[in-house]
Amino acid sequence: MSSSSSKAAKPVAIAQILFSQGFGTRRHCAALIDHGLVTVAGEVVEDPQQAFPTEGLVFEVEGQVWPFHEKALILLNKPAGYECSRKPSHHPSVFSLLPEPLRNRDIQPVGRLDEDTTGLLLLTDDGPLQHKLTSPKYHVPKLYQAACKAEVDEAQLRQLLAGVLLEERNPKLAEEPVNAVSAERLPDGRLQMALTEGRYHQAKRMVAAVGNRVLALHRQRIGALDLPADLKEGGWIWLDAAQRDLAMSEPVSG
Ligand code: URA
Repeated sequence: MSSSSSKAAKPVAIAQILFSQGFGTRRHCAALIDHGLVTVAGEVVEDPQQAFPTEGLVFEVEGQVWPFHEKALILLNKPAGYECSRKPSHHPSVFSLLPEPLRNRDIQPVGRLDEDTTGLLLLTDDGPLQHKLTSPKYHVPKLYQAACKAEVDEAQLRQLLAGVLLEERNPKLAEEPVNAVSAERLPDGRLQMALTEGRYHQAKRMVAAVGNRVLALHRQRIGALDLPADLKEGGWIWLDAAQRDLAMSEPVSG
């Protein structure tokens, strides 16, 4: 994605490139180069100071092919049973599903999903992007599909759209109704709704507020970016600039 930024066009020393991409401490990156474990275009790089333009750069470390990304934006198909924290309390962390260079970078989930929620999770070290995707100010819709205890009825759909009050520690928040920007019953009976805020357990609490209960929750879309149908649970992909822009834009429908 941001490998296309103008800053990225300036050649950068290979040791610095490895360090910035999460291949360990500066000393470790230098050692990888010293041991002949780093190649660019099939050639071993021997000088840690040899500089390469980073735009579009693909290098190999110990045979692992790695595309340079100034900022990382990752899409993970989150399975149930994983926590979004780096220091999980009861279940493995989603970070354990990512390769070490990514774990070493300062990437954070873009809005956490509960341990039992599945589906589309973005992770990034791009602060402004993180803010745009999570701040209610930007109204980026997140589309959820929920299997509920009872099939959602028309009255419940209307209430979700009109807005419900949730119990909140912050008394100001508790006075502000929160609503789905779309809500419908899918042919398989599940509830599908889009939310633009990211309050704690928001989907589950909204469904509870209308007298129902979420049994299983899945996030299918952020903005106009869908979870790729061919990405298996636990799998991840880099996102490019076009996919990042999709995540920040409104879907045409749904
Ligand atoms: N709302 C929830 O209740 N849980 C999630 O994981 C995401 C949204």
